[in-house]
Amino acid sequence: MLAYRHAFHAGNHADVLKHLVLMLVLRYMNQKDKPYRFVDTHAGAGGYSLEGRYAQKKGEFEQGVARLWDRDDLPQSLTDYVALVRQFNAGGKLAQYPGSPAIAQMTLRPQDQMRLFELHPTDHRILAAYLGEQRGVEVRMADGFDNLKSTLPPSSRRGVVLIDPSYEGHHDYGRVIATLRDALTRFAEGVYLVWYPQVSKVEAAQLPKRLEAVAPKGWLHARLSVQVPDAQGFGLAGSGMFVINPPYTLHGELAAVLPTLVDVLGQYDGANYLLEHKAV
Ligand SMILES: C[S@@+](CC[C@H](N)C(=O)[O-])C[C@H]1O[C@@H](n2cnc3c(N)ncnc32)[C@H](O)[C@@H]1O
Repeated sequence: MLAYRHAFHAGNHADVLKHLVLMLVLRYMNQKDKPYRFVDTHAGAGGYSLEGRYAQKKGEFEQGVARLWDRDDLPQSLTDYVALVRQFNAGGKLAQYPGSPAIAQMTLRPQDQMRLFELHPTDHRILAAYLGEQRGVEVRMADGFDNLKSTLPPSSRRGVVLIDPSYEGHHDYGRVIATLRDALTRFAEGVYLVWYPQVSKVEAAQLPKRLEAVAPKGWLHARLSVQVPDAQGFGLAGSGMFVINPPYTLHGELAAVLPTLVDVLGQYDGANYLLEHKAV
């Protein structure tokens, strides 16, 4: 039973970090004409209304993308990210938020491919209606962990994989590691992006070190912490992106924007970021 619905969280601080990193990686891939494949193992609905009852219930986007929306003093790559969100909002008002498939759809070229997995029937239906008929796109209602292998390696041997589970139970942490181990045996040179939540769970705290251990060559780890967890240790203090085989440009690009993200998205004085990497 899947209870998680990303619509509650669309456009929050974690989506900002995740989609900024995704945009930067895809733009790097675009520098060569040769096609590549983007795989989203946990794709969600593709796009979300910020005026619907889910988003309004928690209003998480107010502490996320809404804080960036009207700023004219952002570093270039954050300006570019906001421009993508604006492209998704034809009316000029922040009313919708693009999920990772939409960020990719707006960034990929005609020669590139998308493989999208989403298990929730409602989100899958919305995603399939949005992108299912597009050239080069396949949308499947299937388990993204189990089925990633069917997409690797891409025939062009260029590919980006986003692994963005909901981490509802404890199993997703272990499945991320097992899935990556297998994927790397099939496609060692792929670029793999893993999102993880900064929550009070031992599995979450250990995940970056476990990811380092499976990364054969280079990796990059960016974490943005914006708020204190509540008294019970619940709540999303922040989130991280771990990138295996990152573009060599990514570290510099993130170093230029993470301090601004702390300033703009931080909800307490202790807001901070971490940026570390192992270059190939
Ligand atoms: C964090 S959301 C994805 C958000 C999306 N990647 C984005 O950035 O817009 C996680 C999604 O994974 C779906 N899901 C959960 N388990 C799954 C699985 N094993 N395979 C594929 N999708 C799954 C959930 O229904 C949910 O929509």
